[in-house]
Amino acid sequence: MLVCVCKRVSDRDVKSLHEQGVTSIEALSTHTGLGSCCGRCKPCAEDLLNELNNPTLAPTQAWGTSSTNNNSVGVWQPSSNLISC
Ligand code: FES
Repeated sequence: MLVCVCKRVSDRDVKSLHEQGVTSIEALSTHTGLGSCCGRCKPCAEDLLNELNNPTLAPTQAWGTSSTNNNSVGVWQPSSNLISC
């Protein structure tokens, strides 16, 4: 699933970088450009990093793994009023 639509950064990219020691949103942005355009991905990326940094935390609904998930999880789409990067 894409975390950052503007820079095409997936959750797999984030997990791979986390395994290589990238544990902050700033470092993630430096490595991938995530958040450097519209910035709408930052809260979602921070949630994912928090989960990866604290594996005992319950997964958030944003990643579709919660027991309350209704299978409606998908990639959010930027609204039409976003600037082009
Ligand atoms: S979605 Fe990540 S910068 Fe726009």
